[in-house]
Amino acid sequence: MTGSRIVGSGSALPEQIVTNHDLAARVDTSDEWIIERTGIRQRHIAGEGETTSTLAIAAARAALADAGLTPADIDLIVLATATPDNTFPATATKVQHALGCPNGPAFDVGAVCSGFLYALTTADSLLTTGAARRALVIGAETFSRILDWEDRTTCVLFGDGAGAVVLEAPDQARPAQNGGPGVLASRLHADGAQHDLLYVDGGPSSTQTVGHLRMKGREVFRHAVVNLTNVLHEVLDDAGVCADDIDWIVPHQANKRILDATAKKLGLPAEKVIVTVDMHANTSAASVPLAFDMARRDGRIKPGDLVMFEAMGGGFTWGASLVRI
Ligand code: UT7
Repeated sequence: MTGSRIVGSGSALPEQIVTNHDLAARVDTSDEWIIERTGIRQRHIAGEGETTSTLAIAAARAALADAGLTPADIDLIVLATATPDNTFPATATKVQHALGCPNGPAFDVGAVCSGFLYALTTADSLLTTGAARRALVIGAETFSRILDWEDRTTCVLFGDGAGAVVLEAPDQARPAQNGGPGVLASRLHADGAQHDLLYVDGGPSSTQTVGHLRMKGREVFRHAVVNLTNVLHEVLDDAGVCADDIDWIVPHQANKRILDATAKKLGLPAEKVIVTVDMHANTSAASVPLAFDMARRDGRIKPGDLVMFEAMGGGFTWGASLVRI
């Protein structure tokens, strides 16, 4: 049976754009190196007064407007972030208050770059069991606040932003027809043994500091291609479809070379891959919903399309979801 449906999307980016040339003036790097090794040309960086919650609220408002719904229609908020405004309460509760959503739970999900896949799957499960009727599923990050701006191996890779979708429970009275819209299959994974390859070297319980992102990029790259290829095949098998049936793949935007390698392993042409890493860099949990919203709004992703979402990040965590729009 088909799961919940995406009925709207929205996104938000900070105003300030930082180019590779801007970074080359701060650390020993170059526009050529960054473009060749990652595909990144620029990133948006949060300014004073902009936080994960302000970006999340803007993306959520845009998603509600797109869906033609009001805050009162929402009875579940799941927000994926690794850069919350505060250690607690959950940033999702700030979004709930700012929007004026009167009903239902609001909580954060911490799965770093695969956070949106974890949030989408969690919300879809709650909607499918009837625990809620309509959910806001948000990925929002301000990774600029946890970067070591002296470390050229990481500071050039990330940006800030937010993306959101509105998910609606399957209509029990009118079960989806074959080929109807909704989540077809999802898979999530974690492997805590890889902690040291990608982590933040601080936290309330360990150092009582916020800490900085640390990454062994080459090793993460290697695991990413293998893990993503495997989970994509799992989801295709679960849904009973083949790679050729996919209209669009909306991947986590970490590195253009990972996007290319994963698509190639699936036998998908580059034209089916939504790419925003050049404009946004890696926005962690925000990157998948941001890329999805852009491609919906520019008319590439249309109703009826079969869309594969996928991501991998710190933990490691990774996952994929296949959704008919
Ligand atoms: O979102 C979570 C998942 N994260 C990812 O998926 C990230 C995965 N990893 C990557 O995207 C890539 O591994 C990086 C973009 C991080 C690095 O690319 P790479 O081709 O794997 O480069 P490398 O780490 O092997 O470094 C190659 C060289 C090194 O110099 P030596 O040791 O060969 O002399 C680095 O010191 O490039 C050097 N380097 C840089 N040079 C100029 C590293 N960063 C920079 C830089 N500018 N910013």
